Amino acid sequence: ADLFRPERANAQGFDLAHTQTLKHIDQARAPWKDHRWQAAPLLAGDAVPAEPLREINPADPNDSPGTTASASHADVQIALAAAAPWHVPAAQRATILNAAADLYEAEFGQIFAVLAREAGKTLPDCVAELREAVDFLRYYAANIPKRSPAGRFTCISPWNFPLAIFTGQIAAALATGNAVLAKPAEQTPLTAHLAVTLLHRAGVPREALQLLPGAGEIGAALTSDPRVDGVAFTGSTETALKIRAAMAENLTPGAPLIAETGGLNAMIVDSTALTEQVVQAIIESAFQSAGQRCSALRCLYLQEDIATDVLTMLQGAMDTLRLGDPWKIATDCGPVIDDDARANILAHIAIARREGRVLKELQLPAQGTFVAPTLIEVSGISALEREIFGPVLHVARFDAADLDRVIADINATGYGLTFGLQTRLDDRVQQVSEAIRAGNIYVNRNQIGAIVGSQPFGGEALSGTGPKAGGPHYLPRFCAPDRQQAAD
Ligand code: NAD
Ligand code: ALA
Repeated sequence: ADLFRPERANAQGFDLAHTQTLKHIDQARAPWKDHRWQAAPLLAGDAVPAEPLREINPADPNDSPGTTASASHADVQIALAAAAPWHVPAAQRATILNAAADLYEAEFGQIFAVLAREAGKTLPDCVAELREAVDFLRYYAANIPKRSPAGRFTCISPWNFPLAIFTGQIAAALATGNAVLAKPAEQTPLTAHLAVTLLHRAGVPREALQLLPGAGEIGAALTSDPRVDGVAFTGSTETALKIRAAMAENLTPGAPLIAETGGLNAMIVDSTALTEQVVQAIIESAFQSAGQRCSALRCLYLQEDIATDVLTMLQGAMDTLRLGDPWKIATDCGPVIDDDARANILAHIAIARREGRVLKELQLPAQGTFVAPTLIEVSGISALEREIFGPVLHVARFDAADLDRVIADINATGYGLTFGLQTRLDDRVQQVSEAIRAGNIYVNRNQIGAIVGSQPFGGEALSGTGPKAGGPHYLPRFCAPDRQQAAD
C-alpha cells in the first residue's frame, strides 16, 4: 500500500455518508443561518467610505446574507500605492499559508453557511470548495520555487468557485512573495471577505494582501495600471481577451497573464462502455453544481447502438435529482447564481423548446433563481454557439464510422478544457486522447472535480493560457524571470 500513498496528503474533508458527520456539520452551520456578513475593501490604508448594498440569497429572495461596500477607483489608487511584496523567507510564508489552511478548516461551519447563502452551493459542493481551497494553500506552501516574486499581482476570480479559485490564485501569488490585489466576482464578495480575513488572521500582512470587491471596472483598473507586474485571471474568455489587450497597452512587456477561461466540453460514449457507470458520470458531470463548473459536460456524444438505452436510463436518473434549498442536505441541485444567468440559460432552452429538441426538463421550485436540469437534442457540438453555464446537457448520436469527424468537430470549437471518454477499448483510449485537444481528459469516470497535486487543472486554446493550477508549473509564472532569491 505504501507504493500508492501520495507524497502529500490532500485535505480530509467530510464523509457525508455518516449521520454523525452530518449532525456535526449542521451544528457548526446553525449559528450562521441568519447571519449578515459585511464585505468591504480591506486595504493597507483607509478605504473611501461607500454605501453598502444588500446581497440576495439566490435560492431565496427573502434572505439576505449581508451587505457589500464596493471599492472605488480611489481605493484602487490607495491599494496600488500601499502594495508591498511579501519579503520574508519562503519558509515563513509557507508556515503562514499552512496556518491559514488550518483556520479555513476550523471555520468550516461559517464557510459552508456563506457558500450556501451567497453562492447557492449544496453541501457536497461546500465540502469540495473547502477541500480544494485548503489543498491549494498547502500545496503551494510546500512547493515554493527559489525565485524572486514578480512584484504586484492582480488576482481576478469568478463567482462559481468563490472560495477555491479565489484562494488558489492568492495562495500562489503569496507563496511566491508577491503583493496581491484581489478582486473577487461581484456576485460573491462576502465569501471573499471572509477568506481574506482568515488569511490576515493567519499572519499575511495587509500590504501583501488587499481586497477590492467591486464590478468589472475595478478589475479593469487593476489590470491596466503600469504598477501591476502580473495578472491571474479566471472567468470568461471574453473578459480574458479584454484583460490581455489592456495589459499589452499599459503593463511592462512580458508581464505574465495566467488566464483560466471557459469551455465547450464534450464526452464520447462508445458501445463498449458500461452503461450504469456512464449514466452516473454524465449526471455528475452535467448537473453537479447546477452545471456551473467550467469543467462541466455540455455535449454528450452517444454511439447510435446504445443511445436509446442510455437516454432512457439518463432520463430516469434525472427524475431522481432533487432541486431546492442548497442548505438542505438532501438537495442535489441548487440555484444558478442570479437572475441574469437564469434569463440567459432560459433563453437558450426556449429556442430548443420551440424547435422541439427538448428531451427532458424537470420541475422548478416556486422561488429562487433555479433552472431545471434539461436535456436537449443536437446534431453535434457545432450547434452550441456559446458556453451555456448551467444545468443544460446537449446530446448527439454518432455512428462508429464517424468517430474521426466527431473528434474534429470537438476540436473545431476552439476551446480545450475538459473531455470525457467512456470505452472499454484500450486502443481507443490511446487514439482518442491523442487526437482530442483538451487540458484535462478523463476516462471512464466523471469529468469534474480535479484534485490539487494529482490532477493539475487548466485548458488549452480559448480555454486558457496555462500553466495548470495545482500543478508543478504554476508557481514559476508568479516569479520574476530567473533571478535567485537572495533570502533563501
Ligand atoms: P466573468 O468573465 O464575467 O467575470 C470574472 C471576473 O472578471 C469577475 O471578477 C469580474 O468582475 C471580472 N471582470 C469583468 N470585466 C472585467 C474587465 N474588463 N477587466 C478585468 N476584470 C473584469 O466570468 P464569470 O461569469 O464570473 O465566471 C464564469 C466563467 O468563468 C465561465 O466562462 C467559466 O467557464 C469560467 N471559469 C473558468 C475556470 C477555469 O479554471 N478554466 C474556472 C471557473 C470558471
Ligand atoms: N477544478 C474544477 C473542476 O475540476 C473547475 O471541476
